Amino acid sequence: MAILVMTAPIPADSFVAALREAAPDLPVWTSEEVHDPAAVEAILAWRIKPGVVARYPNLRVVCAVGAGVEKLLAAGDLPAQLPVTRALDPAQNEKIAQWVVGCTLQFTRDLRRYAQQQARAHWERHAVRPAARVGVLGLGAVGQAIARAFRPLGYPVAGWSRRGEPVDGVHVCAGEAGLRELLAGSDVLVCALPLTPRTNGLLDRARLAQLPRGAIVVSVGRGEHVVEADLRALLDAGHLGGAALDVFEREPPPPDNWVWSHPQVIATPHIAGEVGRAVVARQTLDALRRARAGEPQPLAVDRAAGY
Ligand SMILES: NC(=O)c1ccc[n+]([C@@H]2O[C@H](COP(=O)([O-])OP(=O)(O)OC[C@H]3O[C@@H](n4cnc5c(N)ncnc54)[C@H](OP(=O)(O)O)[C@@H]3O)[C@@H](O)[C@H]2O)c1
Repeated sequence: MAILVMTAPIPADSFVAALREAAPDLPVWTSEEVHDPAAVEAILAWRIKPGVVARYPNLRVVCAVGAGVEKLLAAGDLPAQLPVTRALDPAQNEKIAQWVVGCTLQFTRDLRRYAQQQARAHWERHAVRPAARVGVLGLGAVGQAIARAFRPLGYPVAGWSRRGEPVDGVHVCAGEAGLRELLAGSDVLVCALPLTPRTNGLLDRARLAQLPRGAIVVSVGRGEHVVEADLRALLDAGHLGGAALDVFEREPPPPDNWVWSHPQVIATPHIAGEVGRAVVARQTLDALRRARAGEPQPLAVDRAAGY
């Protein structure tokens, strides 16, 4: 019995190595290697093309290589009873929170402005802005890590989730009315949502325009959450004060894409957080063990909700 690793476009080597180290007796194959489809019990993947799963008659579980599962579910033909799990790495979420706080302070403490002044040897002080109100879209593992990171800085945090469950120290909103409330009261809007049909294109011109003038948009969920042309229009119109983007509608953005050169944009190549290989290996092996034993999967994806 074996695990098949198909993490493309992410190189598979480090995941294969981590699985082999954690379970030296279990065959671990990549899809490029010759393998016996009947032996495959678990697939670890970033995306799965339609028709692939049907080749593995004894498949018990599909494990996502990261927190987001939209590319896995997009195949559309995963049998309904086949468990799909995601990765959950608290250390990765802390790293994402560091990136979000670091980028936010570039704007809220005028560090970008002072860098430009420094380049001109120009000494000029600006009034320190009051603590920014942070609004976090998505209060899951990532969103809560971000909320926790802002609190000690004195930045009040509100958040928006689907079910509106309480989160310590966070003013939680839900639903369309909750979203309007959150947008109107966020000087910094952080998107940490999963990509689902309901969140795709959520941050369009109409919604971004509800943010207060000068607000900063920080995006670490998926590129498809933010309608980039609308973001640009509101930056250029002066309604938004800046944006920090780790994820994009198209990755990588083409060389002539405006995000690379816009003076108010921080753009990084989807590096805010990197999932720990040992964590993924441990969680994949645990998912397989549970699938064999018929036990519930604590990291199961809610297929109907899409995350
Ligand atoms: N940039 C990076 O390096 C990076 C790394 C890791 C993950 N990510 C992205 O971050 C996303 C979130 O990860 P996570 O681990 O925090 O996921 P999670 O634990 O599943 O949390 C998702 C959150 O989004 C909320 N949500 C989902 N659909 C919603 C809707 N329609 N309206 C309002 N709220 C909604 C959920 O609400 P409930 O609480 O009510 O369920 C939950 O609070 C991933 O899917 C991935 O796309 C990016």
